[in-house]
Formats: sequence, structure tokens, C-alpha cells
Amino acid sequence: MAVESLEKRPRADDAQAMDRLVAATRADMDAVNALIVSRADSSVEMVPEVANHLIAAGGKRLRPMLTLAASAMFGTADGNGVRFAAAVEFMHNATLLHDDVVDESDMRRGRPAARTIWGNQASVLVGDFLLGQAFMMMVESGDLAALGVLSRAAATIAEGEVFQLAKAGDLSTTAGDYDRIIHAKTATLFEAATEVGAMAGGAATEQREALAAYGRELGMAFQLVDDVLDYGGARGNLGKNTGDDLREGKMTLPIILSLATADAAERRTIESALGNTNADSGVFETVLAILERHDALAQTMARAEGHAQAARAALSGLPSSPIADILLDVPAFCTRRAY
Ligand code: IPE
Ligand code: IPE
Ligand code: MG
Ligand code: MG
Repeated sequence: MAVESLEKRPRADDAQAMDRLVAATRADMDAVNALIVSRADSSVEMVPEVANHLIAAGGKRLRPMLTLAASAMFGTADGNGVRFAAAVEFMHNATLLHDDVVDESDMRRGRPAARTIWGNQASVLVGDFLLGQAFMMMVESGDLAALGVLSRAAATIAEGEVFQLAKAGDLSTTAGDYDRIIHAKTATLFEAATEVGAMAGGAATEQREALAAYGRELGMAFQLVDDVLDYGGARGNLGKNTGDDLREGKMTLPIILSLATADAAERRTIESALGNTNADSGVFETVLAILERHDALAQTMARAEGHAQAARAALSGLPSSPIADILLDVPAFCTRRAY
């Protein structure tokens, strides 16, 4: 897939799916945002300073909106939807603070990453604070089962990040390893977000499982696209630097697929570029040309499409409703997004 086709693909319909999700969850998201701001506060000034730098920059807030939408599908809301949504976004923000330290990333949500201003130590510690606050909110819900879902997710995300670290620069990494990594580090939080949403809405066991499967598949598609965008996206849209994955030696699917069919010279080029923090744009362009020669970005997108389809299919047994219709359109936003 040529890079231009990623940048020029029509997005009107997909942006509309996102707009509809925003509109459908607006009232509760106002409450979520208020809760987020109040729970990021601390008498230790540096805590809200660092946390708000990231939080005020926004982000898509996709996960908490999914929690609220999943809850709204079932009608017997117990009032925990807002708490769970805020907890999910806190967990996400905590992982971003930690992830930018691990990945040595300099830009996040269109701003310098917190670590470039306050340092790695502060980023890690404020991430821990947000994680602690997330657990407090879950405990306050009194729902031990939901606390279990989110606690397990927190452990799994960390495991995924560690497994990814262990595989950095390892040319023998398989597509199966990659699936395991992205399932753990990203799909798990999407899954937990929709599952606890369904729980807050009073879903029956089967419905809850359907929403969990939806979130999981959506999360897989989301990360596959993120990994394509790291090569084929635009910094201005993404609010983060492209090329981080290559510099970091990350074995993402576009690299794994290219290596499978690369000749010896291409293999050497990829090998020397992976993890080379001094790699300039020339090195990046050379690797990108190899990925394109092997059709690796298009193949990665095709996998993302498969997961997006599976996400939609997971909802097939549920009654149709305006909110279900919106959830059915979110996978297309995730696969065609440019930000
Ligand atoms: C970034 O997630 C981390 C990944 C799992 C790829 P988002 O793209 O949802 O980040 P924000 O919250 O919108 O900034
Ligand atoms: C997302 O993976 C990992 C998290 C669980 C935060 P990435 O490392 O690809 O995310 P970005 O590209 O930094 O947002
Ligand atoms: Mg990262
Ligand atoms: Mg990324």
C-alpha cells in the first residue's frame, strides 16, 4: 500500500461514526471528564501538573465512550458506567505515561511527551498514581466482578509490554508472538472497557461475553492500524512521531511480514535499522520502501479488517438499537482512521 493512499483515503463516513459515538455519550462523558479532572488532583503539585499535561491534551477518549455505549445497550444501568469509564481512561493514560518512557517517545497527543518535560521518573510515578486512582474508583463501585476484570487487564497489559520488550529486535519473532503481544497490551483494555460497560448496564452473561468479544476484536484492529500508521501515517494527524517503532526495534507485523519474504540484502537493511536510535529519515524511507515492496502494510490492514469484521459479528445476536448501530460502525472508524 502506498503511503499516499493512507493519507488520502476518504474519512467522512468514519469520522461520522466517531461523531455519533461522541454525541450519544456526551452527557455521561461530561461526568466522566469531571471525575477525571477531580481524581487527577493531589496536594503534591507535580502530580496534577504531569497528569493534566496529558489529560488536557484530550486524546480520542474512545475507550470510556465504548464503556458508556456498552452500558447504554442494556438499560438497567446501576450508575457505575461513569466510574468505570473514568477508571478505564485513567488506566489508559497510565499506560501511555509508562509506554512513552519504555518506547523513548518524545511526542504524545500533539504535545511533547510528559517525560521530555518532567523526566522519566515523574512519568512513571504519575502513571502509578493514575493506576491507583483507577483502582480506587473501581472499589468505590462495589462491583467486585468488574474490579476483577479491570485488575486482570492491568496485569495483562503490563505482561504484554514486557513480552514486547523481550522481543525487541528479535528477527525470529513470529506473527503469533505479535498477536499475543497486541492482544495483551491493547486488546485487553478495549475488551475490559466494553465488558465492564455491559456489566454496569446489567447485561446477561451471554451479552456481556458478546460485548467483551467486540472490544477484544476492535482492540486488535486498533493496534494493527496503529502499527501501520507508525510507518504510513502523518505525524500531524497522529499527534505522535512516526518511525518510533523502527527506532525502538519493535517487531510489528509490517516488519514480520516483510522479513518472511525479504531477500538477504533487505533483511540486512531491516536488521540494521531496527533499534537504531540514530536512524535518519533516509533509513526510514529505505525500510518503508521494503515494506511496500512486500505489500506488508496492505496485508497488515487486511488483518485489521478481519478483526473489525469479527467485532461487528460479535454483536450479531444482540437486539438492534441506535446505540448498537453506532457500535457497529466504530470498527470501520478504527480501520480507516488517520489519527
Ligand atoms: C494509543 O491509543 C495507544 C494504543 C493502544 C495504540 P489511542 O490512539 O486511543 O490514544 P489517545 O487516547 O487517542 O491519545
Ligand atoms: C500501545 O502500543 C501500548 C500501550 C498499551 C500503551 P504503542 O507503543 O504502539 O502505542 P503508541 O504508538 O506509543 O501510542
Ligand atoms: Mg509507544
Ligand atoms: Mg504505536
